[in-house]
Order: sequence, then C-alpha cells, then structure tokens
Amino acid sequence: MRISVIGCGYLGAVHAASMAELGHTVVGVDVDARKVELLSQGKAPFFEPGFEEILRRNVEAGRLTFTADYAAIAGAQVHFIGVGTPQSETGAANLTYVNAAIEGMLPHLGQCADGVEVVAGKSTVPVGTAARLAEQVAPTGVILVWNPEFLREGFAVKDTLDPDRMVYGLPDDEQAAADAQAVLDELYRPIIDAGTPRLVMDYQTAELVKISANAFLATKISFINAMAQICDAVGADVTALAGAIGLDDRIGKRFLRAGIGFGGGCLPKDIRAFQRAPMSWGWGRRSASSLRWTRSTTPCATPW
Ligand SMILES: NC(=O)c1ccc[n+]([C@@H]2O[C@H](COP(=O)([O-])OP(=O)(O)OC[C@H]3O[C@@H](n4cnc5c(N)ncnc54)[C@H](O)[C@@H]3O)[C@@H](O)[C@H]2O)c1
Repeated sequence: MRISVIGCGYLGAVHAASMAELGHTVVGVDVDARKVELLSQGKAPFFEPGFEEILRRNVEAGRLTFTADYAAIAGAQVHFIGVGTPQSETGAANLTYVNAAIEGMLPHLGQCADGVEVVAGKSTVPVGTAARLAEQVAPTGVILVWNPEFLREGFAVKDTLDPDRMVYGLPDDEQAAADAQAVLDELYRPIIDAGTPRLVMDYQTAELVKISANAFLATKISFINAMAQICDAVGADVTALAGAIGLDDRIGKRFLRAGIGFGGGCLPKDIRAFQRAPMSWGWGRRSASSLRWTRSTTPCATPW
C-alpha cells in the first residue's frame, strides 16, 4: 500500500519507518528541512532503540522517502497526521500544526487510484477535532479516521509494530466506517494477525481513549507521590507500600514509583489540554474552573 505520514518527529518518523518495515511504500513529509535531510540519509534525528536500523534498511530498499513537498502525498491510499500538538499559552492544545497539515494536504487528496482513500489522525487532539477535520476533507471524497498513538519513547518501534491495542475512531456513516476500517485492517494486517486487539469506536471516544489513558497514568504517579508525603509524615516506607499495593492486579505495579513528579513531552501537556477541554464542550466557566488550572513550574506532581 502507498502511504504518507505528515510530520516526521518522534511519532511520525517511527511510524513511517515501521509502516515501511511492514512492506508499505511510505513518503514522510515534514516542514523541517534539516530533519528531512537527515531522515533521507537514513540517519535518526533522535535516539530511539532499533529506529535507525529500520529507517536505514527501508530508505536503502527504496520503500521509504522523505520530503518537504506536500505534492508527494498525491495518490497515496492512507495519509497519517503525526504533527505536534503542543501546549498553548492557555494550557489548551495548540492545533496550529494539525490545521496547517490539513491545509497542506487538501490540494493533493482524492487522487488514489487503488480504492478508498483515508486520512488517519495519530496526533493527540481534544475531542471534536476529528469531526471538524472530517468536514474539511469531505469534499475530496476522502474518509477521515482517528487512530491515536500510544507509543512510549524508548520502546517506540516495538510499540508501533507490536502495540497493546489499536484504536480506530470511525465516522458515523456506516458505509464510510466499513470502508475506512477495511483499509486500515489491510494496512495493519500483520499486526492484527499477530493477535493485537483492534477496537472500533466513534471519533470522540477514540480521542478520549488517548487523553484518558495519559490522565490515568498521570493520576497513578501523582497518587503515589501524595502517598509519599503521607509516608514521610508518619515514618512509613513508600517503596514498600507501592510494592505491596502493586501486587494487586486491579492496581498494578507500573507508574507507582514515588519521585519528583513527571515531565516529558506528553503527560503534562496532555493533562493540561484535558483540563481546558470542558470550556470547548460548553460546560461553562464554573465547571471548567472547578478543575483548577495551574501553571506550576514543577508540573503535575500534584495537579490538584
Ligand atoms: N512522542 C511520543 O511519545 C508520542 C506518543 C503518543 C502520541 N504523541 C503525539 O503525537 C504528536 C506528535 O508528537 P511528536 O512527539 O512526534 O512531536 P515532534 O515535535 O517530535 O514532531 C512533530 C513534527 O511535525 C512537524 N511539523 C509541524 N508542522 C508541520 C506541518 N504543517 N507539516 C508537516 N510537518 C509538520 C515538525 O517539524 C516535527 O518534525 C503529538 O500530538 C503527541 O502528543 C507523541
């Protein structure tokens, strides 16, 4: 299958190389000329175990190319959106790059000769984004799906090729949903055949699955940090406590290490965007402000 990946940062570059590894012909598009140059030479712009190996192998095999020219996506059957959704001044997700990606893609959509053409969003976005973008691409005849990404940095190649699950957020129209699902199933065939759960749902649930997964992970870290404060106060040992409660299957050991809080590229910005989201759902100032947005310099250690 011919596919394109818009935005070749951490998510996009790994996704592009991984899809080429599955045998697809992939073009990656990025506005960063230096990144395009490095990737085109098979050189990873960041360290990720196993990534440079599959990048180089597929660039050399001619299955994987990179460019800054959106025209290169014309004729591909699936177009992934993997651009950044950083935190804006207000804490809400900045969708400038997603919007620019759609604008860049639009003139080149609807030219696939091989069947149903799909735009698949992978970036982490607030609820409502997929429905809005679907309206924008509708005149081209292309179907939009939301296919959020759950990869962990450090395990990105493994998580892309052997994920815990795949989520398809599909349109309400039954025929369009069935058509888009068939295209994604064909694209991901080796991953599905390996037994990976593939969960089908509507746009808004797919968007929320990603956001709530990160919110839950953040909650676990913040919970054990709150317990650490109590342990300090009463002379208890939080490491022993975490080990003991983590043996309960309902709780689990992961993300229960007390520490200085958390950072990284995703959890802080994603939970802040989640805190801002009620505003755009029309919940009004009272309910949104009850979530108490803060711009702490030690983000999210205790978000409440
Ligand atoms: N990094 C992760 O571990 C991870 C995991 C899951 C989900 N995500 C989500 O994936 C998205 C991308 O994250 P990332 O870490 O890859 O970000 P990143 O900053 O590493 O990469 C974004 C890339 O998009 C490019 N870009 C920006 N505007 C563009 C445009 N108009 N056209 C083409 N390219 C453009 C940038 O140059 C950059 O290379 C975010 O929404 C993030 O929340 C990231």
